[in-house]
Amino acid sequence: GWRTPYLYLFQGFWCQPAEIQAISTFQNHFQAKDSDVFVATVPKSGTTWLKALTFATVNRQHHFISSKNHPLLSFNPHDLVPFIEYTVYGNHENLPNFSNFHEPRLFGTHVPFDSLSNSIKDSSNCKIVYICRNPFDTFISSWVFCNKIKQDSLPTLGLDEAFEMFCNGKIGYGPFWNHMLGYWKESQERPKRVLFLKYEDLKDDVNFELKKLAKFLNCPFTLEEESEGVIENIIKLCSFEKMKEFEINKIGKFGRNFENKYLFRKGEIGDWTNYLSPSMVENLSKVIEEKLSECGLKFKAKN
Ligand code: PPS
Repeated sequence: GWRTPYLYLFQGFWCQPAEIQAISTFQNHFQAKDSDVFVATVPKSGTTWLKALTFATVNRQHHFISSKNHPLLSFNPHDLVPFIEYTVYGNHENLPNFSNFHEPRLFGTHVPFDSLSNSIKDSSNCKIVYICRNPFDTFISSWVFCNKIKQDSLPTLGLDEAFEMFCNGKIGYGPFWNHMLGYWKESQERPKRVLFLKYEDLKDDVNFELKKLAKFLNCPFTLEEESEGVIENIIKLCSFEKMKEFEINKIGKFGRNFENKYLFRKGEIGDWTNYLSPSMVENLSKVIEEKLSECGLKFKAKN
């Protein structure tokens, strides 16, 4: 989704032409339930991790974390928590029937807040969990991913070209600053409806962030659960090191035929230092400062 000819500006964000119809159908027809939970992200910001944590936490009563049959052991998080816009993909007119989803229904989305369906934004009490990541790492993660999943017939996208597009906001579902600000604003105005998390905070203290998440989703961990190690077991089950080694994540595919293994690369803070030149760092720092500093959004970009 990087190459200029393949990205279109739709309702103020960039997406591929084939996604436009799917997103419109979702926007116009999706009816949220009060119990729904949405995991919203800019691509490559920690979606897979947050989907796994959310699924494991919300379903811990009927899928015991230490069970040998836990769904996360045999399904990729994107199969368990599908992107709402891609459930419509390829079937442009209709939303799928979600009646086999038990409640609370869990969905993912990359769509910016303003372009969600009205029932998500206004007429229901559903919850939205947002995770963002420092743009330096998000950029490198996207660039590597896009080159891995692209068709062999397409040339590799160069780092300089990709970087320039990113700084100009031209990336799937971007500009990234609009995406972040849209959800950030909502999280400030309606903290019961939108929780705003950061990848770097999860890396620093996932225990603390997971408790915050569970509380927000109205399923706080009890003291008993805490002493039984439930929190620590969820963290372990969803850790990069563990998930990367699950058979399904080594050989399986998700969505439109993407290999699961490409979802697990390094999982670190600061890998961009291995790729970006000093002038690139300066340029992106300026963009971040200009676009995000006024709202007080700050990122830890190095360990
Ligand atoms: S996607 O395609 O938008 O769903 O990708 P997304 O999951 O948002 O981003 C992928 C990056 O997240 C890293 N990752 C993880 N980090 C920590 N813990 C877990 N469990 C985890 N799973 C995936 C993944 O490695 C990508 O980051 P990079 O920097 O490329 O390694």
